[in-house]
Amino acid sequence: MLNLVLFGPPGAGKGTQSQKLIEKYQLVHLSTGDILRSEIANGTELGLEAKKLMDQGILVPDEVVIGMISNKLDSNKEANGFIFDGFPRTVAQAEALDALMISKNTAISGMVALDVDSEELQNRLLLRGKDSGRPDDANPDIIRRRIEEYNNKTAPVANFYKAQGKYYSIDGIGSIDEIFTEISKIVDGL
Ligand code: AP5
Ligand code: MG
Repeated sequence: MLNLVLFGPPGAGKGTQSQKLIEKYQLVHLSTGDILRSEIANGTELGLEAKKLMDQGILVPDEVVIGMISNKLDSNKEANGFIFDGFPRTVAQAEALDALMISKNTAISGMVALDVDSEELQNRLLLRGKDSGRPDDANPDIIRRRIEEYNNKTAPVANFYKAQGKYYSIDGIGSIDEIFTEISKIVDGL
């Protein structure tokens, strides 16, 4: 199985690159942000609770997203592999993901990190906010909060995969196709 963690700050291009990767490598895309937004759209209790935090740019509790990923792994037993997008976002989530992989007799193949500076992230998200309808793209303070959450809680996850020899990083600035080519080179070498 090919199990890829696509990593990077808010606006780095994880979702954009995931769309291309699932096509090329026939993987199942698991984005905790997308799953949470679909819970919100369906008006579930989980969605209502998560929305309060997401709209402020704050991470939702680990148990919530770990439970969601566990369910999705169970409901995709025939998959060739997975792209984890926006998960794991804390070291506790990374530890839980390793345990889930072991319970399925598989493992994370590698993490690919997209490196993009804060100014470019702000610009991309504000631009998207003009028509995305995402409340967390709507103003610069919330975008800053998301980047802060990333720096404080998520950036350390890179060390977790470095320690396992599974960390790869690429420049996330450039055309979408150029970046995709670089990611593909890494994936082909795994
Ligand atoms: P989530 O939905 O994961 O959002 P995010 O990580 O903040 O980032 P985005 O999805 O906005 O960015 P992306 O990296 O996917 O970039 P994209 O391809 O869209 O999370 C939202 C919230 O949910 C969190 O704040 C948290 O509250 C909660 N949550 C989710 N997962 C969680 C977890 N595991 N634990 C706890 N809480 C969790 O691209 C961005 C923009 O840039 C687009 O407009 C795109 O067109 C453009 N773009 C892409 N590539 C390029 C390029 N090469 N050049 C120029 N523009 C580009
Ligand atoms: Mg995304």
